[in-house]
Amino acid sequence: MKINLQRAITSLTGALDFVGIDEVHHGKRTALMAVSIAEEMGWSPVRCEEMLYAGMLHDCGVSRTKEHRAITAMLEWDGAEEHCLRGEQYLLACPPLARFSTVVRWHHTRWEKLLLQDIDPERRREANLIFLADRADVLLAPYFVGATLKNEILWEYPAIVERLVGLAGTLFCPELVAAFQRAASRESFWLAMDPAYIEDEVEGYLARSAPVELDTAEALAVAGLFARTVDAKSAYTLEHSTRVARIARHLAEVSGISGEHLDELEIAGLLHDLGKLRVPEEIIDKPGALTREERAFVMRHSYDTGRLLSKLFPNMRIADWAAMHHENLLGTGYPFHRQARVIPREARLIAVADIFQALAQERPYRGHMGKAEVMSRLEGLRDQGRIDPEVVGLLHDNLDACYALAVE
Ligand SMILES: [Fe+2]
Ligand SMILES: [Fe+2]
Ligand SMILES: [Fe+2]
Repeated sequence: MKINLQRAITSLTGALDFVGIDEVHHGKRTALMAVSIAEEMGWSPVRCEEMLYAGMLHDCGVSRTKEHRAITAMLEWDGAEEHCLRGEQYLLACPPLARFSTVVRWHHTRWEKLLLQDIDPERRREANLIFLADRADVLLAPYFVGATLKNEILWEYPAIVERLVGLAGTLFCPELVAAFQRAASRESFWLAMDPAYIEDEVEGYLARSAPVELDTAEALAVAGLFARTVDAKSAYTLEHSTRVARIARHLAEVSGISGEHLDELEIAGLLHDLGKLRVPEEIIDKPGALTREERAFVMRHSYDTGRLLSKLFPNMRIADWAAMHHENLLGTGYPFHRQARVIPREARLIAVADIFQALAQERPYRGHMGKAEVMSRLEGLRDQGRIDPEVVGLLHDNLDACYALAVE
């Protein structure tokens, strides 16, 4: 399996950007502004490129819409530290991206406080650079109406610059602010933020960089990072994706699948709910029945998962398997209403592992279920012709191990 690290970061940023619901592209804009300022600082091309990735990953600890709103609504927010600590923890557990953990840890800390911390001076500046770019984006946010950047930005940007310049020495490092002031005096700095161009701008940077290939273990670690972000969306889904991936892998293994095929399946399991980043947690955590609108919102997640993953794994089956986890053998599943004959075994394994884990875990509208109860529910679904009888058989024969993977 060959996966390009840069591509992984950008497509997963697409998923993180979903958390803003209507306010998308925050990660990409922060990243591009950070690079422009870094270039203005005269940093090396390699270090500038690192700032692009740090900018895209900086909010990997935010998966809740409510938190995203607070962070993007005010310049300073008391609750901001939590997602910095979470992001640091996720990145430390992911070797290919662990080098960004310090920057992410400190990306909401005032410069004057940062100076008191025992941090490598280069990382300190990089963290503050992300803070500065991130806050510039907060001030830019009112200039977006739907998918367009208002022309007013072209004559009103000096007010944004002035506001941030006033925070030099307190919130931000004075040299970084001076570099920002130079970079932001060009119209192109702001026009690059236009939703019509932002992706091309990022692509332009990526095209210049040397691709870094991830091996299978690293790809699994990156998928694991995003699984943790998705699962952190709600207390009820904690570890859901990680556990679904393990159960699916276990079932595949006992059914005779081996080698890299297992790793691909595990990655699909880890990322199957990636599209849920777009679903507000008020809906995920709702104890009662969902309204028609809420249900529609939830039901688009597996389609979104497929779109995000097809960019990340072009020419691989992973996106397909993940996107089909809510299809069923009656042809009434969503979002494709696929017929049984075109639902591959891997998608069936993930679908069953997903239901199994969800039933074993507590949900806002019910308690968690014991082994026997979960099994009888699955047998009921099998009898209705919804889920694969062979997979249910495998689960039955490996019930203790699977239940342990689901909850313990
Ligand atoms: Fe943040
Ligand atoms: Fe799902
Ligand atoms: Fe799921």
